Order: sequence, then C-alpha cells, then structure tokens
Amino acid sequence: MAYETLIVETHEAVGLIRLNRPQALNALNSTVLAELKQAYGSFHVDETIGAIVLTGSEKAFAAGADIKEMQPLDFADVYKSDFISGWDEIAKARKPVIAAVSGFALGGGCELAMMCDFIIAADTAKFGQPEITLGIIPGMGGSQRLTRAVGKAKAMDLVLTGRMMDAAEAERCGLVSRIVPADKLVEEALAAAAKIASLSRPSVLMAKEAVNRALETTLEEGLRFERRLFHSLFATEDQKEGMAAFIEKRKPVFKNR
Ligand code: CAA
Repeated sequence: MAYETLIVETHEAVGLIRLNRPQALNALNSTVLAELKQAYGSFHVDETIGAIVLTGSEKAFAAGADIKEMQPLDFADVYKSDFISGWDEIAKARKPVIAAVSGFALGGGCELAMMCDFIIAADTAKFGQPEITLGIIPGMGGSQRLTRAVGKAKAMDLVLTGRMMDAAEAERCGLVSRIVPADKLVEEALAAAAKIASLSRPSVLMAKEAVNRALETTLEEGLRFERRLFHSLFATEDQKEGMAAFIEKRKPVFKNR
C-alpha cells in the first residue's frame, strides 16, 4: 500500500515505519494518524512480524501535533470530535513497538514516542512538551505518561516551562532506555526489535502486558496478574522448547504457540 506521510518497510520479522512529512518536521496531522493506524493494523495481522520500529528523520522524530491543522479549531470542534483521541489506538498496539528518536520529539512527537514500549534515542535527540508556549497543554498523554516515566519534578519542569531536554538528560531521568550514535540509530533499533521478534510471541506479548499493568494497578494486583500470566506460559509448547534448548545447550526453535 502506498502512503502519503509514511515509509513502511519490513526487515525480516520487523516492521519499520518512518514518519515522512519532511516539510513539516513530521508534524502529526490526521493523515499521519490514519496511515499509522493502517500500518500498525497490517503489521499486527501479519504473523511473520514480531516487533515494530517507529522512527522519523534525522532532524525530527516529530515536532508535535500539526499546529496549522489545529489553529482554526474551536472548543466545540475539538470537544464534539473528541479531537486527538484516535491516538489512543496507537498506544494500544499489542506487538512491541520501539521508538527510534533522532532530533526533535516535541509535544505530540514526545507523546507518540512515549506510546511506544521503549525509546532508543540518538545522541542528537531533543524531547519536550512545548504546548504551554502555544496556550494549550499536552493532549496526547504528555502530562500523564511523562509524569509516570520521569516523576513529578521533571515532568512539571518540562510541561510548565516548555523547555527541551537533550538525550543525556532524557536517559538520566528514565525517559529513554539507551542512547546510540545518530548514524547507528535505526540499525540499533532494528537489532533490538529483531531480538524481540526472535523470541516466543506469547511470552513477548504477555511480558508487555505485565509491565504495562504495573503502571495501572496496585502492587498486589500487579503481582497476581504477573503470576497468572507466568503460570499460563507453562501451557505453551515454547516453554518446553525454551527450557529443553537451554538444558541441551542449543538454540531454541520457537513455534509461537
Ligand atoms: N505543526 C505544523 N508545522 C510545523 C510544526 C508543527 N508542530 N513544527 C514545525 N513545523 C513546520 C514549520 O512551520 C516550518 O514550516 P514552513 O517552512 O512552512 O514555515 C517547518 O516545519 C520547519 O520548521 P521550522 O522552520 O520552525 O524549523 P526550525 O529548525 O527553525 O525549528 C522546531 C524546529 C524548534 C521544532 C520548531 O519547528 C518548533 O518549535 N515547532 C513546534 C513545536 C511545538 O510547539 N510542538 C507542539 C505542538 S502542539 C501539540 O503537540 C499538542 C499535543 O499535545 C497533541
């Protein structure tokens, strides 16, 4: 399928999506959202794909929601259409998604990166929630996901001042999992995704569910949830194979069942 705002490729078991609106620093408009839903949907139904990498350009992962699209809207427009809520579907992706961020990840761009399971940052990455400088606040989860990721002090600093933080600060405060040289960004993200895609799919999906549950429930409920998923994996052929392969000192051959 041909996309107007994305470049979509497959690299063996990994789906690679590049945001591609260079003239607007990958600003997120309604076409990007519709196309991302389409691309995610096609990777999710494709059994051969085990993980997804979402990236932008060298200069910008994404510079936010499209300000030119939003500027004329009034309260009734955004309230009636529940503007921006469509992005919730992107956050609910079942297969693991790695954000590979180079350059600006601002506003909705930072929020989109945070919807992914983890962020690998180029040493050139810059993160921020500058909505306050436009007379609004984050609307795609920035006040919530950023606070959970980095804590109140740093989130307040970023959301109230609109300042940007560089990759080193983002790694220090726990927003990104690792920093790599900019020219190795996509390669490193594809390698991490390929590793995930090579593992048993049921355990990968459950691991993702379990970690996400930690953000939404009490410790006791979370532990119970984890234990149930852990027990259920003993019903898979891949558990037998994974453990047998370890004992026999060979590579496991997972069947994803
Ligand atoms: N929306 C629409 N267009 C954007 C954009 C955005 N978020 N960000 C950049 N662009 C456009 C610019 O208007 C410019 O287009 P023209 O050439 O037609 O003028 C083009 O991209 C290049 O941008 P700049 O000339 O500004 O590039 P720069 O290198 O000088 O600056 C930047 C880069 C600091 C990222 C600057 O573009 C910027 O501040 N962008 C806006 C960042 C922002 O405020 N994001 C939050 C948006 S609101 C939001 O996201 C709400 C939400 O939570 C859902």
